[in-house]
Amino acid sequence: MIKLTIDGQVIETAAGSTLLEAAQQAGVTIPTLCHLADLTPEGACRVCVVEVEGARGLVTACTYPASEGLVVRTNVNLP
Ligand code: FES
Repeated sequence: MIKLTIDGQVIETAAGSTLLEAAQQAGVTIPTLCHLADLTPEGACRVCVVEVEGARGLVTACTYPASEGLVVRTNVNLP
């Protein structure tokens, strides 16, 4: 298990999860379009982009691996 922060909420998730899966487990809604469960994520539509502290740009939550200590923001209106 790993811990990361999404919208100020510390979340524990299984290693190998994506940011989308971690957010869903925590009840944080991230909209998706091209993501379909049970299919290989493509990251094509970019509807699910989120901000990861330290990353160069926005990342696609459906493909980005959750990792220990990440700080993620899904809503620009949050502090
Ligand atoms: S849902 Fe399309 S890129 Fe993530």
